[in-house]
Amino acid sequence: MNVVVGQSGGPTVAINASLAGVYQAAIKAGADKVYGMRNGIFGFLQERLVVLNELLCDEEKIELLKRTPACYLGSCRYKLKAAEVAEEEYQKIFEILKKYEIDCFFYIGGNDSMDTVDKLSAYGKKIGSSIRFVGVPKTIDNDLMVTDHTPGYGSAAKFVATVIKELVRDTEIYDLKAVTIVEIMGRNSGWLTAAAALAKGEDCNGADMILLPEAPFTMESFFEKIEARLKVKNNLIIAVSEGVKLPDGRYVCELADNTQGEDVFGHKQLTGTALFLADACAKRFGIKTRAIELSTPQRASSHLASLTDIEESCRVGAAAVEAAVRGESGVAAVFVRACNKPYCCETGVVDIHEIANLEKTVPLAWINEDGTDLTEEYLDYARPLIQGELTPYFADGLPKHLVLK
Ligand code: F6P
Repeated sequence: MNVVVGQSGGPTVAINASLAGVYQAAIKAGADKVYGMRNGIFGFLQERLVVLNELLCDEEKIELLKRTPACYLGSCRYKLKAAEVAEEEYQKIFEILKKYEIDCFFYIGGNDSMDTVDKLSAYGKKIGSSIRFVGVPKTIDNDLMVTDHTPGYGSAAKFVATVIKELVRDTEIYDLKAVTIVEIMGRNSGWLTAAAALAKGEDCNGADMILLPEAPFTMESFFEKIEARLKVKNNLIIAVSEGVKLPDGRYVCELADNTQGEDVFGHKQLTGTALFLADACAKRFGIKTRAIELSTPQRASSHLASLTDIEESCRVGAAAVEAAVRGESGVAAVFVRACNKPYCCETGVVDIHEIANLEKTVPLAWINEDGTDLTEEYLDYARPLIQGELTPYFADGLPKHLVLK
């Protein structure tokens, strides 16, 4: 058996743990060669393959891989056109698969990447190919349907909650009125911004407002809430999703006119929400404001990875291999939660159609009435996902990474 594995879409701290999970499970299942595609399906089309058996040959490398952020193999945002309009591309992919005698194809990615798994498995079925195509979910956005949560979310949530705690400490020092706006990734779903709610505890009052795309607001209602809070508190921390929306459906960052175009999946690149809102507050209230865009550190900070996330990400990679070995294709591995306390989560497999191109948002029932905080139910759901730490290996005072040259 030969297998090929690729990584696609925006990275996470745990996507390499899933790569390790796929690799180890494939070897255990008797795979002769485990190929890695450089830059996902885009690189595969150019036949840019590496042999992982040579690169991940010892346990130390695997452990380092689990502690390395971003995509070891490189990533891509590449949309396969429908087979009806671009059959040559599919023919080329299946020629390469045949040339390398590939039996199983694993793709680690988000909802857009599952579209690739869907299209390739459907085409494979159409031409009578026996190659199995299986998706391995990942995304800091936690916006995949069916799965209880996504690999990568727990670590990003741990980072977000930690940063909010640290910012609360820092902003408390002055006896002055100030507003700090913290912008968090997640596109149209507020899962990652919701993680700011985890900061609240015995030693921290947490964020003063948490604003998600699921709860649109007008600028006037935003100002009113800030004004009311400034009457009773000096320093406000507002966690805001990059994708927060106005009631008419526009992104708030569009008011600043600084969206930066669309990717091939039609997603607008969102940025500048915090800056826009901080400027608006400075003008409205005449007080000190600060905009903090967490940006890439929230998906690359492996020094603060959640051990639960890393271990589960390995497991979900292995579950995908086991599904392929059983003969399943056109499916994705998922998490199925059995219990919150004590936390217990199993892996399962679902039809790829249940995941590809769909987005799961935060349930409205988990957002408080005025749209500025999360409920206990969310906290019970998210807290298990951030538990435990995976200490990096350090060299010269800095975390060591495994790098593919
Ligand atoms: O989908 C993952 C994600 O990190 C989103 O949260 C974010 O909006 C987007 O990717 C950023 O895209 P890029 O990697 O192209 O900057």
